[in-house]
Amino acid sequence: MAIQTTQKVLSVKDAIESRHSIRRFVQEPLPKEDLNQIFELVRLAPSAWNLQPWRFHVVTDSDLKEKLQEAAYGQQQVTSAPAVILAISDMEDVLANLTETVHPGLPDDRKQQEVANLSSIFGGMSVEERAQWGLTQTNIALGFLLLAIEGLGYSSVPMLGFDQEKVKELLDLPEHIKFASMVPFGRADAEGYEHHRLALDKTVTFH
Ligand SMILES: Cc1cc2nc3c(=O)[nH]c(=O)nc-3n(C[C@H](O)[C@H](O)[C@H](O)COP(=O)(O)O)c2cc1C
Repeated sequence: MAIQTTQKVLSVKDAIESRHSIRRFVQEPLPKEDLNQIFELVRLAPSAWNLQPWRFHVVTDSDLKEKLQEAAYGQQQVTSAPAVILAISDMEDVLANLTETVHPGLPDDRKQQEVANLSSIFGGMSVEERAQWGLTQTNIALGFLLLAIEGLGYSSVPMLGFDQEKVKELLDLPEHIKFASMVPFGRADAEGYEHHRLALDKTVTFH
């Protein structure tokens, strides 16, 4: 499907290479179609059993951004950004709605089997265990999110430096959810730091 966006689209390679954490943004409203486009791309992220435990909250309200900034120990990028995304994982919602995640192309008996299987696997875990499992999957979507933002010509900074209990209160989120990141984003109004990464021979072993 052809994708309509107001921004120039980067190749995956260009998006990966040009992404840096940016902490100052142009103060301008973000076009709704760009926001939709970003999430249309992110929802294509893979997950085990296709459970898709990620959920996103997009904050553009100035008062709420002020409060999020306070919860993030005053980190200025939060109010600088036109939009702040909270990428969270909600495995309790997944478990309560398993039929949504089963592929619609399966015959009915296979769908029921799949739901029973998943209920048994995840029902056998504690809320905390399955929340941690869901977070591993949601982090895949976080990677997609950062690249989708970059690919559409925007910039972002992923953040975990915030008081999670305070943010749950501010957004009225249930206790069981896990945060993958808070992601302020918009058009860059500053340069990021030059990439510093470990050497390939430290992180990659060929056998
Ligand atoms: C999960 C996660 C949490 C982070 N938390 C913060 C944060 O709270 N504040 C911040 O300024 N940067 C934060 N960062 C950004 C990292 O410092 C940055 O990604 C890293 O130094 C590499 O730089 P680059 O993103 O410019 O390539 C975080 C990054 C990740 C992936």
